[in-house]
Amino acid sequence: MEERKTYIVANWKMNFTMDESSIFLHKLAQKITPAKNLEIILAPSIFTLQSLSLQVDYKQFRLAAQNFYHKDFGAYTGEVAVAQLKGIAEYGLVGHSERRHIFGETIEDTGHKVAAAIRSKVVPILCIGETMSERADGEESDVIYDQLIGGLSGITSHHIKDVIIAYEPVWAISTGGGGTVSAICSPDDLASTIKIIRSHIKHLYGAKVSQNIRVLFGGSVNVENIMSYLQVDGVDGALVGGASLNVESFSNIIKKTKEIRQAKR
Ligand code: 13P
Repeated sequence: MEERKTYIVANWKMNFTMDESSIFLHKLAQKITPAKNLEIILAPSIFTLQSLSLQVDYKQFRLAAQNFYHKDFGAYTGEVAVAQLKGIAEYGLVGHSERRHIFGETIEDTGHKVAAAIRSKVVPILCIGETMSERADGEESDVIYDQLIGGLSGITSHHIKDVIIAYEPVWAISTGGGGTVSAICSPDDLASTIKIIRSHIKHLYGAKVSQNIRVLFGGSVNVENIMSYLQVDGVDGALVGGASLNVESFSNIIKKTKEIRQAKR
């Protein structure tokens, strides 16, 4: 089996002005030394991407878009094409739960976006995950299957290796930082869902792909719990929201990630 890289992604969501992003990057860069097979990816808001791309040291960090449109160009006021991200962002989030649940992004939309990203040689990070009520109704596996089959509908077995999956249970997003509901995905919960995801991928693309595909976790990841999640078999990294907005906490998450990678060797 190939050694899979570890990925830590900072999803800044709709936070930070241009100046704040630049200062954050400057401070973070002083705390981080590159490590083999560990990729640190920053996903700032779309309008700061270009300026950060001029500032960033690509030996330390990579950049991701939080969202994009699937058409390559044309009369789509207000949208940014994934084709326009070429040379700026190497990665693009697709189907984040906030896109699905606040902005009504459909499974078909995610399929178009994943295919467009591959076309433009941007690595899609396809976010999937069930809601609390879907989980309560025992539909978790079916929901995830639908999101995978729809999101990957245009992806052949040749290109599947270029896709990253991020499991973000909707019920565990932004709940650990003092939110109103304190639902946390336990490492055991995560382990069983990762098995489900990899078995769906096996069904769709075969055993080898299922072993090699990169699967990340997101949902209230912080410096206290990162190790317990990265220890789960089949987890290749984390998508961090709230805890990525503070230089200290995000750099400590990276530090812990390096420790656990060393320990696993
Ligand atoms: P939190 O880490 O704030 O729960 O956000 C997770 C997330 O949505 C990352 O994409």
